[in-house]
Amino acid sequence: MKDILILGIESSCDETAASVVKNGREVLSNAISSQIDIHTLYGGVVPEIASRKHIERINQVIKEGLSQAGVTLADIDAIAVTYGPGLVGALLVGVAEAKAIAFAAKKPLVGVHHIEGHISANYIENKELEPPFLCEIISGGHTHLVIVKDYGEFEILGRTRDDAAGEAFDKVARAVGLGYPGGPKIDKTAKEGDPFAIEFPRAHLEDSYDFSFSGLKSAVLNYLNKCRMTGEEISVPDVAASFQQAVVDVLTDNALRAAKEYKADKLALAGGVASNSALRAAFKEKCEKAGIALYAPSPIYCTDNAAMIACAGYYEYMKGVRSGYDLNAVPNLKLGER
Ligand code: KG4
Ligand code: ZN
Repeated sequence: MKDILILGIESSCDETAASVVKNGREVLSNAISSQIDIHTLYGGVVPEIASRKHIERINQVIKEGLSQAGVTLADIDAIAVTYGPGLVGALLVGVAEAKAIAFAAKKPLVGVHHIEGHISANYIENKELEPPFLCEIISGGHTHLVIVKDYGEFEILGRTRDDAAGEAFDKVARAVGLGYPGGPKIDKTAKEGDPFAIEFPRAHLEDSYDFSFSGLKSAVLNYLNKCRMTGEEISVPDVAASFQQAVVDVLTDNALRAAKEYKADKLALAGGVASNSALRAAFKEKCEKAGIALYAPSPIYCTDNAAMIACAGYYEYMKGVRSGYDLNAVPNLKLGER
């Protein structure tokens, strides 16, 4: 059978990325231009700046994605692009670029859901992984527990009712002065702290696989305020480690409870927070005990990248999904919707 090459384009938040993937699983290139340095100055992603930087960089990043793969546009079978969810101005840059390339090079266009991309990142390094499996998607904007029934087909078991897990990491990091991006900084600082030093709440929602992280975030803020008012010394490593432990407990408990109820023998992690070292270690231990095969992409495929979009795009393309030139950015696109 002829090889299928997909050019993936991702610009939903603060990474401009392009990648060429062969047959849905083999990454030929993974070009990423991160804007972290600029947004760090403001303590978080500034949407207007993100859009402008995407515009400045996207042509170069796509050229790099093609040249790293040793191919030209003529070799590409389809263009896959993230069209939601994400920041509308940022998404529009990728969508407009993908439409222009598809039109000029006469290639099919496939709009991809960003979360489906995160889930598909698991296919890249696990050639044998196929649906059905359970997947927990934990990123800066989303926390979902889903059954991946087939490629691109999901049953949502639970989702966050307030903050996403990554958002909680970012807010707590900011409150203790670690700055942006919070997740990796808490991960590193927590290694020096005691995860059981401070008792923070774990929200276990009755009869539900939903998540809630805003109570935990408030508890950390209240603890910090109390210390500041009473003059008690704050150990940032202990706060980071205790907060992280609370998040890890909730994320692992929920997923393992679902695995048991649905008799899932495969559990995959996805999204930026899935690169957290304490979380990966806890999942490894608990899954081994429960006899569940655990999948987690390498950190470079956990955070935003275009290889995962090309990978998801491949499966949509093979199903016959095609987008028109009227494809638009959908900032609050729901998982499973087109
Ligand atoms: O998936 P992602 O790159 O973008 C979204 O789709 O949101 O996730 C970014 C999120 C940020 O909140 C970041 O702080 C978090 O992932 N993150 C981490 C780690 N690396 C990134 N959180 C905890 N530990 C990490 N090592
Ligand atoms: Zn993402």
